[in-house]
Amino acid sequence: MFSQEIDSKIKKISLIVLTCVGVAFVIGFFGFHNRVTDVGYRPTQPVPFSHKIHSGVNGIKCMYCHTSVETSAHSPVPSTSTCMNCHIAVKADSPQLKLVRESNENNTPVAWKRVHYLPDYVHFDHSRHIRSQIDCASCHGKVETMGVVSQFKPMNMGFCLDCHRNPVANIIPARPISGIFTGIKATAYDSTAQAILANNIEPTTNPQFGSFMSDIPKQEVEGIPTPKHPGIGPENCSTCHH
Ligand code: HEC
Ligand code: HEC
Ligand code: HEC
Ligand code: HEC
Ligand code: HEC
Repeated sequence: MFSQEIDSKIKKISLIVLTCVGVAFVIGFFGFHNRVTDVGYRPTQPVPFSHKIHSGVNGIKCMYCHTSVETSAHSPVPSTSTCMNCHIAVKADSPQLKLVRESNENNTPVAWKRVHYLPDYVHFDHSRHIRSQIDCASCHGKVETMGVVSQFKPMNMGFCLDCHRNPVANIIPARPISGIFTGIKATAYDSTAQAILANNIEPTTNPQFGSFMSDIPKQEVEGIPTPKHPGIGPENCSTCHH
């Protein structure tokens, strides 16, 4: 169709283009695949734990299990003894809870797989956000609807800065299911399964302050700072990188 010279040029160009597309694909797939921004990441957990059953159906507040979010940077996954508060009685023989019972007997933690990940050079502190009445759902989505937790937002710099620049558009105000914001400690409470479930599972801290426009009572428990309305988040590099 074309002269031989043009024909071979077309072949060469096609080859170069194809190679470029191939290389770009490989880099894209392996090079730019990034745990930090991996929305939807959902590792298979050793125990089929469902937030939907626990928080969605049974109303167990986030704070009941993730106890230290409002006081510290991290919000560890609960230890087996928290599970056993209920599962000593509830579904005590369930095969799905075999690993949990073993963990309890042998005093070894369940090897939960980490879902969210931020690089070490970023400073993130849960407590500061939680005490400003920012609900978990702002960053993690509605976890109480998830059978298996998956990452909801890319945890990149833009995610932090979008909200720091424009908090009102990005903050979901505290909801009762989270059970966050302490002013007054819950009255002495019974930690047996029946009591927890019968009381609609009170959080270890209460009351919840409702929405982020509500008045904030003054601090009544030592060691837990008074919650406050969110100001605007910082944008200077050194607050997040130091
Ligand atoms: C009965 C205990 C319990 C309750 C209540 C609970 N969680 Fe969890 N949560 C767990 C356990 C166990 C894991 C680890 C297994 C998993 O990822 O599913 C976990 C994992 C998570 C993770 C993923 C952590 C990571 O590895 O990055 C998030 C986010 C989370 N929970 C948020 C919430 C929120 C928000 C609520 C309230 C709506 C809540 N949880 C209520 C026990 C609980
Ligand atoms: C302002 C955003 C934001 C809010 C609000 C928030 N989280 Fe997180 N959460 C994160 C980020 C970012 C990480 C990853 C932290 C890391 O890797 O160091 C994380 C990690 C976690 C983890 C894994 C363990 C850890 O601490 O690294 C759990 C569990 C968790 N969050 C639960 C909660 C619960 C429960 C609430 C509400 C009471 C909540 N989070 C509110 C942003 C948030
Ligand atoms: C406050 C009580 C309470 C706590 C604490 C609790 N659970 Fe549960 N769990 C329940 C209830 C209620 C059910 C639903 C039982 C049913 O379906 O009848 C359940 C169901 C389950 C099931 C499904 C069992 C089956 O056979 O269907 C698993 C797995 C499970 N929980 C794991 C855990 C783990 C792991 C922890 C600790 C991180 C935990 N639970 C903490 C109350 C609790
Ligand atoms: C949904 C909104 C929202 C998101 C998302 C968010 N922040 Fe914030 N952040 C705030 C607000 C509001 C404040 C100011 C709180 C106050 O006034 O007490 C704040 C304060 C801070 C502070 C200053 C307080 C401290 O702990 O020293 C740091 C640092 C910070 N955020 C880091 C981060 C990082 C890192 C991320 C992303 C991984 C992030 N934030 C995501 C709303 C957010
Ligand atoms: C509100 C918190 C926050 C502030 C303020 C912030 N960063 Fe970041 N930064 C992050 C987070 C979170 C990451 C992790 C991004 C990732 O791994 O995808 C990051 C990553 C980076 C990286 C690594 C490259 C990349 O994008 O992955 C550089 C470089 C960086 N930041 C520079 C800066 C500079 C310069 C400033 C000041 C203008 C700044 N950051 C302010 C949260 C912040």
